[in-house]
Amino acid sequence: MENKESLIKIKVLPNAPLFVQGKVELTLADGTTVVKENPHFCRCGASKNKPFCDGSHAKIGFKD
Ligand code: FES
Repeated sequence: MENKESLIKIKVLPNAPLFVQGKVELTLADGTTVVKENPHFCRCGASKNKPFCDGSHAKIGFKD
């Protein structure tokens, strides 16, 4: 049985990015690997820093 404390928590923020709670290792499209703490992932498509949110969702009025 999975220890609930070890679960990675992901929140879908209303009209905003996905918030991943915790430290993650991410492999980007070019194969490089980065480690991020509490990253926010773009889901509006407008970020200039994909896959991360850069706040552009607010400028374009993203609605989910
Ligand atoms: S969700 Fe924030 S820039 Fe796309």
